[in-house]
Amino acid sequence: MRKHKDIRDYIRTIPDFPHEGILFRDVTTLFADTRGFRMAIDQMLLPYAGMRIDKVVGLEARGFILGGAIAHQLSVGFVPVRKTGKLPGPVLSQSYQLEYGEAVVEIHDDAIAAGETILVVDDLLATGGTAEAGIRLIERLGGEIVGCTFIIDLPELGGRKRLEGLGMDVHALCAFEGA
Ligand code: PRP
Ligand code: MG
Repeated sequence: MRKHKDIRDYIRTIPDFPHEGILFRDVTTLFADTRGFRMAIDQMLLPYAGMRIDKVVGLEARGFILGGAIAHQLSVGFVPVRKTGKLPGPVLSQSYQLEYGEAVVEIHDDAIAAGETILVVDDLLATGGTAEAGIRLIERLGGEIVGCTFIIDLPELGGRKRLEGLGMDVHALCAFEGA
């Protein structure tokens, strides 16, 4: 048996959730593990060591858990990108396509100042629709994105290519094929 566990070893796969035929990659088992959670935070930050990061933006909902820990690690502020109708103050809104229909995410319009450098955080990169909407909100406020960091990439769904096409640095700790 290997002495050290890989990040993938902490991720639980649940078949047929939320729909039949979907293999759901469940990071709650990673979050619940003392070593797994710390390993994830450390590895998500590794490529950005020594870079200026003024704020961390987390994408609802699991990106809040990771982004909060990452912001604390960096001693910088945390900004949530939330699903529509959740933020109390004045917001910018951005819509994006889902498989069926459309979704909207929002950011407080005073959460980022022009020129601030931003690290974008979420648990999983699939089509990249959620992350692209977050990126657009940050850029509309004048934020400069240093990178987008995830635990899981599902490369077959094209999110990495999509974000790289927007000029983003994309970092993921592991990939699962056949998503
Ligand atoms: C999941 C995941 C990412 C997003 C990735 O969130 O946590 O945020 O989907 O998919 P995409 O790359 O195709 O946009 P979900 O929308 O299920 O919501 P939740 O995090 O609030 O549970
Ligand atoms: Mg999410």
